[in-house]
Amino acid sequence: MPDDNSRRRFLLGAAGVTTTSLVAGMAGCTANDEPSAAQGTTPAAAAGGETAAAATTLTTRRKLGELEVSSVGLGCQTMPGNLYGPVSSRPDMIKVIRTAVDQGVTFFDTAEVYGPLESERIVGEALEPVRDRVVIATKFGFEVDQQTGERGGLNSRPEHIKQAVDGMLGRLRTDHIDLLYQHRVDPQVPIEDVAGAVKELITAGKVRHWGLSEPGVQTIRRAHAVQPLTAIQNQYDLLARDPEKQVLPLCEELGIGFVCWAPLAYGFTTGTINPYTRFVQGDFRASVPWFSRENITANMAVVQLLHDWSVRKGVTPAQLSLAWLQAQKPWIVPIPSATRTPHLLDNLGAEEVTFAGDELRQFTTALNAITIRGARVPAPVLAGTGVEAPMP
Ligand SMILES: NC(=O)c1ccc[n+]([C@@H]2O[C@H](COP(=O)([O-])OP(=O)(O)OC[C@H]3O[C@@H](n4cnc5c(N)ncnc54)[C@H](OP(=O)(O)O)[C@@H]3O)[C@@H](O)[C@H]2O)c1
Repeated sequence: MPDDNSRRRFLLGAAGVTTTSLVAGMAGCTANDEPSAAQGTTPAAAAGGETAAAATTLTTRRKLGELEVSSVGLGCQTMPGNLYGPVSSRPDMIKVIRTAVDQGVTFFDTAEVYGPLESERIVGEALEPVRDRVVIATKFGFEVDQQTGERGGLNSRPEHIKQAVDGMLGRLRTDHIDLLYQHRVDPQVPIEDVAGAVKELITAGKVRHWGLSEPGVQTIRRAHAVQPLTAIQNQYDLLARDPEKQVLPLCEELGIGFVCWAPLAYGFTTGTINPYTRFVQGDFRASVPWFSRENITANMAVVQLLHDWSVRKGVTPAQLSLAWLQAQKPWIVPIPSATRTPHLLDNLGAEEVTFAGDELRQFTTALNAITIRGARVPAPVLAGTGVEAPMP
């Protein structure tokens, strides 16, 4: 698309994007700063006044099992404003979700524990007028007080799942959940019991499809045998590539779709986090080992690679990050979160990124040569992933 690329190059140029070292150029920004153009914001937004005209409307759809969704979804975990620091306002979050719908996004991701409860309420309010046009995914698996939102430990007992779903339906202002995930495997509850409870919810019409997040591989097989799974939702981004070893091949074998959480590595692969970033108090990312003082400088090699290639291709680092994930399999769908409209619009531009000739292989070869330092999540969170459910 020569015309499109030249327009993008013009906008990138107008925004002052250069090929100089990212580390050197980004001292002093905080993770709560509005990113400058050189840090990877949308070219259109950076150029000013062109946001609406330049924004991509998603038309491509992908299949997760039998469920059709837009090629990029919207993660809504950060909208309550207590994960990555405060957000502008609740009405603004509703506006971001509705802008996503206007721009062709049909896939929205939330969970009972996001907020807790508040993310589902925001999603429910935002999507109520367009409920029949969108796919809502949410997750159960923890004790959450339905009045206060106080969060306890894991709980996937069948009777608890059914109670949790009734609460979700109320907050989401709907009579059905399109895609219901178990958020984490409960080491006390056989997955067959969980699948049986979900099967009953499907029969009752309250749930349409189901999935697992961060399960052990044998648990995937056992769950799928009781009630076929539509999607696995795991962390997958340019730094966290574990799913390539076992989970993606298993999804391919069983015909299960794959949803990538934190597909922008918590914003890192957009170029907005660097060794000088100081996270606001309570920002989860302060505890992520990738971003520790000893690890982040080495990990900036991924950001530099993305920067070089995004300039070469006339796209943004965020778009390239998402397009790389999508290029791995046609049944992979990233769900980046965005609480700022320019970020949302930037991400939708991933749909227009193509890899010509040998580009995908070349990029992946360069990525493979980078050693990622540190874990993707803090140790206690990591311990809850890849867990195999007990046998019945
Ligand atoms: N299943 C699970 O266990 C699990 C775990 C974590 C997350 N998730 C799901 O995955 C979703 C996404 O994960 P995440 O929010 O942790 O990580 P992410 O999507 O990788 O990154 C989000 C961060 O990147 C920023 N950002 C987004 N687009 C950008 C762009 N184009 N340029 C610059 N910055 C950009 C956002 O900023 P702004 O907010 O300022 O726009 C936000 O700070 C969540 O909302 C949730 O639905 C699931």
